[in-house]
Amino acid sequence: MSKDLRIDGARLSWRLEQLGQIGGLPGGGNARLAFTDEDKQGRDLVVGWMRELGLEVTIDKIGNTIGVRKGLEDTAPVMTGSHIDTVRTGGRYDGNLGVLAGLEVCQRLNEAGITTRRPLAVAFFSNEEGARFHPDIMGAMVYIGKLDLPHAYEVVGIDGKVCGEELKRIGYLGPAEPGWLKPHAFVELHIEQGPILEAEGLTIGAVDGVQGISWTEVTVEGVSAHAGTTPMRLRKDAGYAAAEIAVFVRQLTREFGAGQVGTVGRMEFKPGITNVVPNRAVMTVDIRNPDEAILQQAEAKLFAFLDKIAMAEGVKISTRPLARTQPVPFAPHMIDMVGEIAGEFGFKARRMTSGAGHDAQMMAEICPTGMIFVPSVNGLSHNVKEHTEPADLEAGANILLQMMTRLAA
Ligand code: HGY
Ligand code: MN
Ligand code: MN
Repeated sequence: MSKDLRIDGARLSWRLEQLGQIGGLPGGGNARLAFTDEDKQGRDLVVGWMRELGLEVTIDKIGNTIGVRKGLEDTAPVMTGSHIDTVRTGGRYDGNLGVLAGLEVCQRLNEAGITTRRPLAVAFFSNEEGARFHPDIMGAMVYIGKLDLPHAYEVVGIDGKVCGEELKRIGYLGPAEPGWLKPHAFVELHIEQGPILEAEGLTIGAVDGVQGISWTEVTVEGVSAHAGTTPMRLRKDAGYAAAEIAVFVRQLTREFGAGQVGTVGRMEFKPGITNVVPNRAVMTVDIRNPDEAILQQAEAKLFAFLDKIAMAEGVKISTRPLARTQPVPFAPHMIDMVGEIAGEFGFKARRMTSGAGHDAQMMAEICPTGMIFVPSVNGLSHNVKEHTEPADLEAGANILLQMMTRLAA
């Protein structure tokens, strides 16, 4: 019935443009950190669209928001979705595409007068990025019961605000119990955020899973001292120790080779004055690997190095885990389905593992889950220049439409 149905690519791009204006950044991106006013405005816009499309909107106690399109039967829905919160230098496709493509699927079915047997659901999960309140993928993690509400509510953000209070302040602390709706299947359309599809001249990725992710906050405490009079041998320089740790993280990737990535995304010195030896450094270490055993080895080497550098520099080092997820495989039949449908559109789907975390990796624990990737120009993401060609957006959304309607038949 909907085999020949195609999405309206211009309308999808228009919605992406509208949402991208909220928290819009010079250069084309958008910043909507979780539970900020910008996040609220983005949520309000998308909820408005959900209601315009006749979806029944439910908000849960961590702010996950799900619009349900009635099916012929009152049974477990086929769900799609992603996130609409962003990092501070966010692009307008990361997360947004998966949510808005889901709305476009619903609108096309409305226009065609088609009601699927199973209901359809379009979700945006709270705080997928973890950029303000750790961990990342927080909303979806709470949704599947992997993180309890009290712990999520008490998280203090990088700006000192409290997670639960900010959620309440923006009016998205909803009534529903997270996990209230158990999907029959979950499919997420997302940009690749890396260079592979573009480099291989391909349009569609059939994602086989998500790699393991380990985030740690490292605090180094030394002694502030005069930059001129203090002999090098007497210094307890927190800044230098932190710099050594950052170099070590890069060396880890060389030692463990392909598949191992490492990033020091944040590093702050105190007192942060030219002529004072830093007495405090707070930094984050993000290491990832598709192989759990190797990721654990990388973590062990990192912690061993922290002990070594603490001794060598006479500083005190403490750590705080911010996020830790193991590699997640997606359901084989879902991976195959992406490939089959892509084939019907004339695309060769490239099987690939996601370097980025996604809401789908949590949903994979409660239902058969798959992801569709479309290319990122220059492999860029978490960058205002993030871009995906309209034709590729359309291709991904058309495959999403076919996948959802067939799963819901
Ligand atoms: O960090 C990630 O992989 C995702 O963007 N939250
Ligand atoms: Mn994302
Ligand atoms: Mn992201």
